[in-house]
Order: sequence, then structure tokens, then C-alpha cells
Amino acid sequence: MADSIGLITIDGPSGVGKGTLSALLAEKLGWNYLDSGALYRLTALACIQKEISLDNIIDDTESKIADIARTLDVKFLPQGGVLLEGKEVEALIRTESAGNNASKVAVITKVREALLQRQKNFFQAPGLVADGRDMGTTVFPQAPLKIFLTASAEERAKRRYKQLIEKGITVKMPDLVVEIQQRDDRDINRSASPLIAAQDAQTIDTSQLSIDEVYKEVLCLYQQIAV
Ligand code: DC
Repeated sequence: MADSIGLITIDGPSGVGKGTLSALLAEKLGWNYLDSGALYRLTALACIQKEISLDNIIDDTESKIADIARTLDVKFLPQGGVLLEGKEVEALIRTESAGNNASKVAVITKVREALLQRQKNFFQAPGLVADGRDMGTTVFPQAPLKIFLTASAEERAKRRYKQLIEKGITVKMPDLVVEIQQRDDRDINRSASPLIAAQDAQTIDTSQLSIDEVYKEVLCLYQQIAV
């Protein structure tokens, strides 16, 4: 293991803390970080900017969206933030509706295929923490450590509520729970790479755990396989 490229996949539903955990792990290990959800968010944003409706998507539009995904001009900045066609769009892709739009383009098989190689390209020395829905099942099935995070929809909505209020965004808790459940439904029930734990994934229920506790648990699992 010493000479090979490290790889940890972190999958799970929205609002479960994957992003925070993955970024923390990547920073502490000095590895690269793939935020695969951002690629779906960026694809959806690019569609909206090109005035392509994401409701009632038909066959023809699927191919157009896949072309957009394949040719996305994206740059993740080392200090955080992301450029789409040279413009900073971090705030634009982090809204609830951007997440919802991302999950609409993510059901399209051709879009998932179009983004596959781009995601694999992040697998570079010294290692990669890959965060998403299908990292352990489809994109990096070879990963020696696969984590699947869970937490109840209510707990995830509570966390999301806190984050949004801290950012000065007003939201209603019941609306948030419904949105999270709708997104879960779409992500779990799609036919292409649905949200599901890989057979060899370690599932961690984070409902009662702090981010630090989850981080320590994952690091401990990694150290067990890294010897
Ligand atoms: O992780 P996120 O909330 O940024 O993801 C936004 C949406 O993108 C999510 O609801 C489903 C989709 N997605 C996906 O289908 N596969 C991934 N690997 C990552 C995200």
C-alpha cells in the first residue's frame, strides 16, 4: 500500500456531512479532493444559463445536457471556490435549488457517462478522497476504504437549517425536510448509479456524532488498512 495512490470514497444522501468530512480528511492526509456533486451542480447551472429547462427532460434534451456535461469548462480553485467558463460560481451552485437541479440532471445516464472520466482524472498521487453518491459503487469500485454515511432526514434538515440560517438565508424547517426527502427519493430510485451503499462499504450513522467523531472513526478505519 505504501507506494500506491491512496483512495477513500465517501458516499451518502444530501446533508449527511460528506462534504465537510471529505474536505477535512483530504486536508489532513494531504490528498486531492473530488466533490463530484459540484460537477452535477455545475452541469445544471450551465444548462440554466443556456436556457435549457430541467423539467420534463426529453431524449433530445438529454443528449444536449450530456454534451454540456462533457465539455464543461470548470476550474476548482485550490483556495476554494469554482470557476465555470472563467466566472466564479461557488455561491450560485450551493443553493438548495441548485442541489435540486443537480439531482434532476443526475438521473440522466448519458450525463453520468459524460462525467465519469472527468471524475476518474482526480485519482492522482498522493491520494484522493472522493465524495458523492456512487463513488464506491461506480466511479472508484477499487477503493480499499468505502464509507457510507447515513442520518435521518430530520437530523439532516436540522443541520442544513443551521447552516442556512448562519449564512443569513431564511428557510422553513418543514420545507427543508420535504426537499431533502424529494432529493433522496430521486437519488435512490434512479436507474443509473442510484444512491446505495457498496457491498463492501462501512456504514456510519452520523445522527448522534459530531464531525470530529466521524472523522476520527474514518481515520481509524483507514489506519487499519494502511499498515
Ligand atoms: O452532494 P451534492 O448535494 O452536491 O449533490 C447534488 C446532487 O448531485 C445530488 O442530489 C445527486 C447528484 N449527485 C449524483 O448523482 N452523484 C454524485 N456522485 C454526486 C452528486
